[in-house]
Amino acid sequence: MTAASQKSTLIDNIGLLVTPGAERTGAAVVIEDGVIAWIGDSRSSVGSAPAADERIDAAGRCVIPGFVDTHSHLMFAGDRAGEFEARMAGQSYSAGGIRSTVTATRAASDSELLTNATRLVAEMRAQGTTTVEIKSGYGLTIGDESRALRLASTLTRETTYLGAHVVPVEFAGDVSGYVDLVTGAMLDACAPHARWIDVFCEDGAFDVDQARAILSAGIARGLGARMHSGQLGESGGVKLAVELGAAAVDHCTFLSDSDVDALASGNTVATLLPGVEFSTRQPYPDARRLLDSGVTVAIATDCNPGSSYTSSMPFCIAVAVRDMGMTPAEALHAATAGAAAALRRDDIGAIEPGKRADLVILDAPTYVHLAYRPGVPLVHRVLSSR
Ligand code: NIG
Ligand code: FE
Repeated sequence: MTAASQKSTLIDNIGLLVTPGAERTGAAVVIEDGVIAWIGDSRSSVGSAPAADERIDAAGRCVIPGFVDTHSHLMFAGDRAGEFEARMAGQSYSAGGIRSTVTATRAASDSELLTNATRLVAEMRAQGTTTVEIKSGYGLTIGDESRALRLASTLTRETTYLGAHVVPVEFAGDVSGYVDLVTGAMLDACAPHARWIDVFCEDGAFDVDQARAILSAGIARGLGARMHSGQLGESGGVKLAVELGAAAVDHCTFLSDSDVDALASGNTVATLLPGVEFSTRQPYPDARRLLDSGVTVAIATDCNPGSSYTSSMPFCIAVAVRDMGMTPAEALHAATAGAAAALRRDDIGAIEPGKRADLVILDAPTYVHLAYRPGVPLVHRVLSSR
């Protein structure tokens, strides 16, 4: 990784420069103080590009925007390899597994939690991710949720309060008591460390009325709304997300026609999480149906120890192309510009003058190789404005 700030850098000799809606061969890019300052033709750039302190020779490689991973649960301890093994032997995934990670997370020290999350962020960046969202959701007490967010906010500005991940055992039989906590004292403690609020709206977690109360309380506190829904079955969650103006509704594996219509007419991004279906043997979401209806689609890893323990956006792109009906160009768009929309950010997700200089030089002539060469480390170099 290269820190691109505090100096100017010319990336020359780019074989293929890819940004949403445009591909350009033989390009050059100049970065100044962590921002894209100029894009032009590499052959004339010695004469016409602004002077730069440093020159990087891309040697004909493909350059793409840094990946934006809008959905991760990195604040956890322990792993659930045994649960994965049992699933591969035929057991099905259920939301209940979350509680075993809650027990391990509560028992972990601050430094264990931060070390684990830092390791995963480093894995992500090595695979081309330059922006990551991180959720709480494995603490489920005032102290454990707020510390997860306090620690996460040292790693990213995209922090999400997910006190409503699942009802903890100590509130079994008193869901409404837990919703009161999530919308009251826990929100008070967490809101200062969070940009977003999220809820798992699904059978076994929270229903639509509870999700409405939870997201509305967060919105009233100035947080942006996002939602988990449609992972295990259809629910009214997707329509609620659109109605409340949520930035994104994530999973979207099970959607009715009216859910798709709502997404197409609203301003909520549908975020698909290919690692989940891969790791739970659920059916893949139908990205084609969403794209053909005009819905903005994002792809994210959902990195977590239960349903999707991958940190790799290239892996998710490969699965989206192979099994979800996306073209390589659509998958790249979903992992960059679509994902930026899911975070309501206009400074990332594209290589254009004025955007942050978050970009990836691939060891490949085209981004198509991200799906064509699955599992191969194709990231040559990551430049990040941070
Ligand atoms: O996005 N769906 C809810 N939360 C996670 C799973 C968390 C877990 O199984 O630990 C998800 O898939
Ligand atoms: Fe999730």
